[in-house]
Amino acid sequence: MASPRHLMKLSAALLLLCVGVCVARNSDFSIVGYSEEDLSSNDRLVELFEKWLAKHQKAYASFEEKLHKFEVFKDNLKHIDKINREVTSYWLGLNEFADLTNVEFKAAYLGLNAAPARRGSSRSFRYEDVSASDLPKSVDWRKKGAVTEVKNQGQCGSCWAFSTVAAVEGINAIVTGNLTALSEQELIDCSVDGNSGCNGGLMDYAFSYIASSGGLHTEEAYPYLMEEGSCGDGKKAESKAVTISGFEDVPANDEQALIKALAHQPVSVAIEASGRHFQFYSGFSTVLAARS
Ligand SMILES: *[C@@H]1O[C@H](CO)[C@@H](O)[C@H](O)[C@H]1NC(C)=O
Repeated sequence: MASPRHLMKLSAALLLLCVGVCVARNSDFSIVGYSEEDLSSNDRLVELFEKWLAKHQKAYASFEEKLHKFEVFKDNLKHIDKINREVTSYWLGLNEFADLTNVEFKAAYLGLNAAPARRGSSRSFRYEDVSASDLPKSVDWRKKGAVTEVKNQGQCGSCWAFSTVAAVEGINAIVTGNLTALSEQELIDCSVDGNSGCNGGLMDYAFSYIASSGGLHTEEAYPYLMEEGSCGDGKKAESKAVTISGFEDVPANDEQALIKALAHQPVSVAIEASGRHFQFYSGFSTVLAARS
């Protein structure tokens, strides 16, 4: 059983996507997925596209579609390379989204439906009175064993479920010492009051669902399907593993409040991820300094 948790929302953006953190690896190519020479001729571009298709196991229905995708790919690569020349603090790369236009990307992956009303189960903020001098300089909940492996929502606007589950996994690990992956699929299938499965949702509704329904099954007992199912369909025999008694929203536009909350537990967030830069975000990196 876990205690209440806190939730921050960035309400300015309507369409958001929750993402994992990408870690830059040890050479330029492995981060960005191309080299400057690949841009030197059409033959090289075709070769690069074929390699990318194989790596991401892409297959298209027709030759026409493949030609069209090649054009999109080249346009994206042009954008990626341009930004990598201009910007020094982060990298863009040829990831699995490189054959999608930004419009297609947004339609397939974004999924936060921000609601006008805040739905915190109380208006209080439990860390209000924490004094700034009691806060640590930094906290990494991964190192403290409160964060499960990076998960991939795939082609389903279910970021709201992943964001919710990560916060519940975190507080459960802190309270019980048991880090257990929990079921996003259960939220997608069952938390339908205010949420719309793969068509988006909001963490507040999902927290309410968990608190009122007796909790969530583990990821293993109710695995992810990347599509909407009926509640309970995908579930194995085990009973619900973890629940919460409630949740709070971190006060809006208040960095101190967010720091106070984060010092005590992982916080559920959604970030604005609809931009083309974000579509190809590959990491920020200390190897930047080593780039010639
Ligand atoms: C952790 O929690 C899971 C889910 O309830 C349970 O299956 C597992 O046995 C627990 N592990 C330990 C070490 O208590």
